[in-house]
Amino acid sequence: MTPTPAPTPAPTPAPAPPAIVVLGSTNMDLVAYVAKAPAGGETVTGREFRTVPGGKGANQAVAAARAGGEVTMIGAVGNDDFGTRLRSALAHSGIDTDSLRTAEGPSGTAHIVVDDDGGNSIVVIPGANGLVTGLACGDEAVITSAYALLLQLELPLSAVTAGARAARLHGVRTILTPAPAAPMPPELLAATDLLVPNEHEAAALTGRHDPLLAARALLDDVPEVVVTLGAAGSAYISRDAPEPVFVPAVRSRPVVDTTGAGDTFVGALAVALGEGKPMPEAMRWASAAAALSVQRHGASTSMPYRQEIDAL
Ligand code: RIB
Repeated sequence: MTPTPAPTPAPTPAPAPPAIVVLGSTNMDLVAYVAKAPAGGETVTGREFRTVPGGKGANQAVAAARAGGEVTMIGAVGNDDFGTRLRSALAHSGIDTDSLRTAEGPSGTAHIVVDDDGGNSIVVIPGANGLVTGLACGDEAVITSAYALLLQLELPLSAVTAGARAARLHGVRTILTPAPAAPMPPELLAATDLLVPNEHEAAALTGRHDPLLAARALLDDVPEVVVTLGAAGSAYISRDAPEPVFVPAVRSRPVVDTTGAGDTFVGALAVALGEGKPMPEAMRWASAAAALSVQRHGASTSMPYRQEIDAL
C-alpha cells in the first residue's frame, strides 16, 4: 500500500501590520562625502555630493514602513521643490502623508559630512519643521488609531509634548528618541513609555558616561529604556526588570554611511514590538535592520525591507 503523503504544513501567516504614527521632522539631507571631515577653519575637497530625503521623523517612518508597519506621518514640509520631493519619497514608501502639512517657506535641510569610516557630522536647519508647534485638527484622531506613536526632538517641544499627551490619553504606546539631545519638559517624559537614546544622548541627558548608569538614571523619568551602543549592540532596562538585557549588534561589513542607523533601529523595533515580539527579540531584529542600513549610502535610501531583515 502506498503511504499517504504527509500534509504540507500551512505557511505561517504573516503578522497583521502594526499601525505606527510618526510625529516628526522631514529634512532634505545635503550630503558631502569626504575622506576625512574638515577640522574647524579647514577646507577640504570632497568626493561626491548627494541630496537624500531624511529627517529623523521621516527616517523612522520609512524604516517602519519597509519593516512591515502601516505608517502615517504627521509633520510639515515647505512649499519648495524639496518639499515636493520629500512628500513623494514618503508616499513612495507606502506612508500615509495626508497629515503632512505643506507650510509657507523652505523645507527642513540637514547639512551632512560623511567620512570614509562612515561617521558623520550634521547641521540641521529646521525650516517647515520649526512651524509645527502643536497638533493640527485631525492629528489626535490619527494618533488614537495607532499601536505606537514615534517621537524625536527635531520638532518644537510643544508639538512633541502635545503628541505624547494625546497618545497617553488614548493608551497608545509612546516611543521617544531624544535626538538631538535636549532638556525635555517633565510632561513629555511623564507621557513617554519607552525612551531610545544612543549612548551619547543618554550621557548628555544624565551627565553619566557609563551607558548603563545613564539608563538606570533615566528610569526615574520613564518606565522603559533601550540604549543603543553602536557596534556594541543595545541594552534594555525597565522599572519592572531592572537587570539589564544586552543584545549584541549584528556584524556589518562594509560600513559606508551610519546616517539614519539609529532611526532604522527605532522604526524596526516599533514594528517588531507591535507584532508582539518580546523586547530582546525585537532588539535583535532591529539590530539586523540597522546593520543593513550602514552598508548603504544615505538615510532613508539605506533602509532595508522586511525580507532582508528576516534573511539576515
Ligand atoms: O538621524 C539622521 C537624520 O538626522 C538625518 O537624515 C538628518 O536629516 C538629521 O535629521
